[in-house]
Amino acid sequence: AAGNSAIGIHDLSFATTEFVLPHTALADYNGTEIGKYHLGIGQRSMSVPAADEDIVTLGAAAAAPIIARHGAEGIRTVVFATESSIDQAKSAGVYVHSLLGLPSAARVVELKQACYGATAALQFAIGLVHRDPGHRVLVIASDVSKYDLDSPGEATQGAAAVAMLIGADPALVRIEGPSGLFTADVMDFWRPNYRDTALVDGQDSINAYLQAAQGAWKDYTEQGGRALEEFSAFCYHQPFTKMAYKAHRHLLNYCGHEVDEATVARHIGQTTAYNSVVGNSYTASVYLALAALLDRADDMTGQAIGFLSYGSGSVAEFFGGTVVPGYREHLRTAAHREAIERRKPVDYARYRALHERSFPADGGDHPTPSETTGPFRLAGLRDHKRLYESR
Ligand code: HMG
Repeated sequence: AAGNSAIGIHDLSFATTEFVLPHTALADYNGTEIGKYHLGIGQRSMSVPAADEDIVTLGAAAAAPIIARHGAEGIRTVVFATESSIDQAKSAGVYVHSLLGLPSAARVVELKQACYGATAALQFAIGLVHRDPGHRVLVIASDVSKYDLDSPGEATQGAAAVAMLIGADPALVRIEGPSGLFTADVMDFWRPNYRDTALVDGQDSINAYLQAAQGAWKDYTEQGGRALEEFSAFCYHQPFTKMAYKAHRHLLNYCGHEVDEATVARHIGQTTAYNSVVGNSYTASVYLALAALLDRADDMTGQAIGFLSYGSGSVAEFFGGTVVPGYREHLRTAAHREAIERRKPVDYARYRALHERSFPADGGDHPTPSETTGPFRLAGLRDHKRLYESR
């Protein structure tokens, strides 16, 4: 029976930060023509974490509504995907497990491969449910994207977390069919352990993404996946939303299709609404695209969605899913809109101060100012230990 049951995304919830910086404020500061941000890269604002927010508070805030709705029963695995980790040893998921009061009979682990990590988490979760259909897996993708101030990457920063409950007979999307896989050792984007901002070769990274998307798609078709025309929509990893358009045009071209912009817009248009105002949320980005699609598109029951997950360095995966009848009753559209609208705009100076903030590494007592109005906060660092609080 395990082999035949449909497995996929049973619930999906996202959270983002307390603050937001509009791209107009960045453009005013650095003299960039605003069209470059709004049209050239397709970004309007970026989520900015408060001093007392991090990947743990965001991840817990995304997951809490899922636990409130479904309870913790059957959740025996928590997989936390991130590339902006707060500790080299301890999984951020263990803090979330504690903040949410999950049962001790659970395994918790952190996964990393740049922005691709959450897709690995999703696929591992599906494997676990396949083995035991009563098992549910909480997948959390949470990231704060940080580039150097005054660098080209700065305009593509952002922060958010997506939590997904993976199980049998899912209420939202069944994940089906083969996966198309691609790995290549490239240095398009990376972050050595001694840095808290990423290093990137912008144009190289765009080319690496396109090559990886093509490679993953090629493998997907060789594995017997669906034809491109069978998909109604495509959720791409969106480091900036124009990248989804670049990637989709590239795949259409590769498959020998005419690239007409009306088709591209129909396939991608609804998926960019959250990412264009949140910014790059790394591991969460492709699932924020899914949230936007499900929340905004007309009834998608029975329709196939293609997913292209990319993580620099690089690994890509293309896979498909089908939208489940009745899915609309399980969406969190109002809460998602609220997560975006509740953010408080900050001016450029405040954003810059938050960007430059870091804890001294002296083992002292470093409380954080109380800024977030979210359900969880990072209270500070003491004896090198992060202290979290829930409200
Ligand atoms: P840049 O040098 O600031 O910008 O770099 P540009 O000169 O390339 O311009 C960007 C676009 O704006 C161009 O359009 C311009 O023509 C247009 P395109 O040629 O690409 O179609 N433009 C304008 N449009 C309208 N009105 C105007 C105007 N001016 C210019 N006035 C870049 C941009 C994205 C490279 C930079 O922001 C960057 O380095 N970002 C970080 C890296 C990144 O996001 N890479 C994406 C692929 S890698 C990836 O997705 C993985 C990642 O998420 C990490 C992970 O996996 O962990 C990053």
